[in-house]
Amino acid sequence: AKFTRVDQDTCIACGACGGVAPDIFDYDDEGFSFSILDDNQGITPVEGELEDDLMDALDGCPTESIKIQDKPFAHIEEEKA
Ligand code: F3S
Repeated sequence: AKFTRVDQDTCIACGACGGVAPDIFDYDDEGFSFSILDDNQGITPVEGELEDDLMDALDGCPTESIKIQDKPFAHIEEEKA
């Protein structure tokens, strides 16, 4: 399984990710994306067909804001540093 969250500091609200992975990503009031799986915490495993959608979103994001790793995002602030 993979884990994902969106880096909202770099997301430009382009809207691609929700198009290819509508069961994973949605947009906030300003159009910035977040993971609806766990309110963008990156702690809920993305499995099965959703994993394919996730890779499509990764490929399609122009700002590389879709973050993916093999383990839960436990320390978000440290990951960014
Ligand atoms: Fe943002 Fe990338 Fe999605 S710029 S809206 S995270 S495709």
